[in-house]
Amino acid sequence: MAIRQVVKIGDDVLRKTSRPVDVLNRRILTLLDDMAETMYAKDGVGLAAPQVGVLRRAICVDVGDENGLFQLINPEIVKAEGEQEGMEGCLSIPKRHGIVKRPARVTVRATTRAGKPVEIEAEGLLAVAFCHEIDHLDGTMYIDKQEREVTDEELAEMQKENKE
Ligand code: NI
Repeated sequence: MAIRQVVKIGDDVLRKTSRPVDVLNRRILTLLDDMAETMYAKDGVGLAAPQVGVLRRAICVDVGDENGLFQLINPEIVKAEGEQEGMEGCLSIPKRHGIVKRPARVTVRATTRAGKPVEIEAEGLLAVAFCHEIDHLDGTMYIDKQEREVTDEELAEMQKENKE
């Protein structure tokens, strides 16, 4: 496994549509493992393949809950319900955060790294993470959808509240 370089905003690759993964070969498995290692190394809760410069439909997500790590191929949101609003950041957009509206609950259909089809029901932060990462596969970033930017002062305030 290896930590890969994360592509930053301004690079065209982040704005392109990724191609589906048709064969689950060693190269894709290595990609998925490198993505997970990179996400953990950078303290992220999700990463999409275009963020490491690979235009394939693959994501990893780990929001630190009991579900652990998801490594998914060809993920799609097949159902979305309700609404939630929260703060998001992105490893490709360093030091910025925004308030984004997302569905409260989603159902994601995908293939696992073992090649097994799965349907995952997610809510809260996990639902947000799936929406955020799947958006990357179509060249969409949270800043395209954000209600507004979060200022450094607000961020400092929120971090303070979280510690208290
Ligand atoms: Ni992102």
